[in-house]
Amino acid sequence: MRLLLIGAPGAGKGTQAGRLASRFGIAHISSGDLLRQHVRDRTSLGERIKSYVDAGDLVPDGLVMDMLRKPVVAASEAGGYVLDGFPRTVEQAKTAFETAHSLGVEVQAAVHLDVPDEELVRRLLARGRGSDDTQDVIEHRLKVYRDRTVPLLEYYAEREWMFTVDGAQSPGTVHEDIVERLRKLAAFSIADGPAGTQ
Ligand code: AP5
Ligand code: MG
Repeated sequence: MRLLLIGAPGAGKGTQAGRLASRFGIAHISSGDLLRQHVRDRTSLGERIKSYVDAGDLVPDGLVMDMLRKPVVAASEAGGYVLDGFPRTVEQAKTAFETAHSLGVEVQAAVHLDVPDEELVRRLLARGRGSDDTQDVIEHRLKVYRDRTVPLLEYYAEREWMFTVDGAQSPGTVHEDIVERLRKLAAFSIADGPAGTQ
């Protein structure tokens, strides 16, 4: 199973990716978590990307793609992945598709988590994750999302494997809605009824 989760900052990508990963026994790969880990570990990549992450700007495509290639290929071989936060631009999607296509590991479904802006801001201020959850940086991240990621949703809009879920509901309801939609896609055969891992 190979899934993408797309949504604004605070939409619940990490929350839902974690639930999907444990329910289906696939890897949860978060571009943001991996980038923050590099910053914490002060790797050479971490030193190069820290200013982007702190400011809420996108890290240059090449750096993100190089970082993700190995874990994504390994997860594909091991049963699948849910990618959280990548791709987030049309350019990233096009480049990643070419690589995935040549390896025969294209994505099978893309989930868009839709949440109103005021709820996103409320969640992020309540969470307060380090330097990028301040009012100013949150507003900038939302602007970057509108400018760079909303065009990706438009680019994917016609694909039958892309769908939108109301992400403002409780985490459990959002999860069940996603699974219900996946069940309707021909690429998967998911048994009926909730699993015990929620
Ligand atoms: P990233 O880590 O991806 O951050 P983000 O997109 O801003 O999203 P968050 O992780 O803040 O939110 P989330 O959607 O995961 O929601 P969560 O489940 O945590 O990226 C960070 C930075 O890395 C970027 O700014 C950029 O610099 C860089 N980067 C990452 N990917 C990149 C890429 N592909 N290219 C270039 N640069 C990249 O939930 C948020 C809060 O809400 C939590 O407290 C949670 O408990 C709560 N919550 C979740 N669901 C619900 C619910 N249903 N109801 C109520 N509360 C909820
Ligand atoms: Mg996240």
